[in-house]
Amino acid sequence: MATMQEEIKRRRTFAIISHPDAGKTTLTEKFLLYGGAIQSAGAVKGKSSDRHAVSDWMELEKQRGISITSSVLQFEYDGYCINILDTPGHQDFSEDTYRTLMAADSAVMVIDAAKGIEPQTRKLFKVCAMRDIPIFTFINKLDREAQDPFDLLDELEREFGIGTYPMNWPIGCGKEFKGVFDRQNRSILAYDQFHAGRRKIEAISCDITDTDQLDTLIGQTARETLVEQVELLDVASFDFDLEKVRHGKLSPVFFGSALNNFGVESFLQAFLSMTTPPLPYHTEEATVDPFDNRFSAFVFKIQANMNKMHRDRIAFMRICSGKFERGKEYYHLQGNKTTRLSQPQQMMAQEREVIEEAFAGDIIGVFDPGVFSIGDTITDPGMKVQFKGIPTFAPEHFALVEQVDSMKRKQFAKGMEQIAREGAIQIFFYPGTGMERVVVGVVGMLQYDVLEHRMLTEYGVKYRKMDMAHSLIRYIDTPDLDPASLKLSDSTIWVKDVHDKDLLIFDGEWAMRWAKEKNPTLILREFNTAEQ
Ligand code: G4P
Repeated sequence: MATMQEEIKRRRTFAIISHPDAGKTTLTEKFLLYGGAIQSAGAVKGKSSDRHAVSDWMELEKQRGISITSSVLQFEYDGYCINILDTPGHQDFSEDTYRTLMAADSAVMVIDAAKGIEPQTRKLFKVCAMRDIPIFTFINKLDREAQDPFDLLDELEREFGIGTYPMNWPIGCGKEFKGVFDRQNRSILAYDQFHAGRRKIEAISCDITDTDQLDTLIGQTARETLVEQVELLDVASFDFDLEKVRHGKLSPVFFGSALNNFGVESFLQAFLSMTTPPLPYHTEEATVDPFDNRFSAFVFKIQANMNKMHRDRIAFMRICSGKFERGKEYYHLQGNKTTRLSQPQQMMAQEREVIEEAFAGDIIGVFDPGVFSIGDTITDPGMKVQFKGIPTFAPEHFALVEQVDSMKRKQFAKGMEQIAREGAIQIFFYPGTGMERVVVGVVGMLQYDVLEHRMLTEYGVKYRKMDMAHSLIRYIDTPDLDPASLKLSDSTIWVKDVHDKDLLIFDGEWAMRWAKEKNPTLILREFNTAEQ
């Protein structure tokens, strides 16, 4: 039996980030296929007409007839134990999507070769960059018309301020897609070969100066372009530097086609060889070594059951060190109590399972009777650490929510406070007013539906909601400033958070600039500044 150290060493925990439709689900499916966790391509695919209303992951799970509350998929490949974290997209993009990234040791960024960087990729990248985690780029859909690969790399470098290192290089695209050139092995992975139906594609080693061989393989025109581009790359691109990769400063880039299973396994292998076992996590006092024998974990997501019949919640935690054992007593720091974590479960590729043990790097979901909050620390009793908590991410949508039934004042306040505490929404107040009227901020619009549903089913409360045109929120950071004295544009709103801190909500960049110009002493602070 493997020791704890060996178990931790073989763990790789990463998130896949992308804009909807770039190919995240397809790529995940292919990974599972290589891991032998599913039997055939297409087994987990399939779209329903309303697929945009649910996350792909939910869709993926539904196809396989399993629960929809998972947050992570675990599977085995080549001796590695891989945890892929879900970052929901589409309409259910929410603060949870960001929080999930706090539990990953690296990220795979999937980009549609025709579209380049899209808004959701941009947002998710920013959060990964906050933690300096390694980011691997998979440029997908080369079997379709694509942007020029140099332009794509330029865009990544310009927009994200990182270096890129193409690990392979595409030979044509769309109908003319011939395969990829592996820069390290100086070999070609020919696209046609795959189409002959072989699951494993053998790379053909090739001497780039061997004109005849190349002409036979990819044709003269493609050969000429390839030789020219590879020469350019060899002199002009960044040098490969694994240290920079591991600190998120240099992103290895791979080109391929997830749908056609092309370039996926070589990507997975290279990715696994470049990533590390679970990374240390920082606490208020010290750094926690994943190989420390003592168990420690933090809660990064709480999922309330939307089903009225089951009001339980699941707290998802990332194990940062040691080994989790079912039935053992652990210490919940914020509650100052020891507790047995009940119904510990993990999503295996095939099904959700109650687990007996789990290791640093793993994510487990435990039954939460309402005691956990996002960012909480759970450890072996006696291990005195406190994880830094999860940053609060800036809401991007705002709405004014008012109670309509004064008989239900208490329930309204209780529901709003509770749901905000769980991290599903953020609430703000107009100075001088109470809980009867709150500004509700969310990262994703679906959170408003969740709020409405839960307020009605759990608290029996209906409310009036007015959407606001605002999109930017900042803390006021000037000491001893009376916000009432600020000169602000008509649309700008001064609010307070639950800790009585002052904030301004703007309807756009222009209003924010205006506020700064008219009030030279005004210091504004962004959200997302705390670090795990
Ligand atoms: P997402 O999870 O990032 O939202 O993307 P998903 O994998 O669902 O892929 C979005 C669409 O792009 C799907 O098509 C999928 O088949 C297609 N796709 C993914 N990878 C590739 C690729 O390498 N080449 C090409 N040509 N297409 C790719 P769809 O029409 O929305 O769904 P489906 O009916 O094909 O399943």
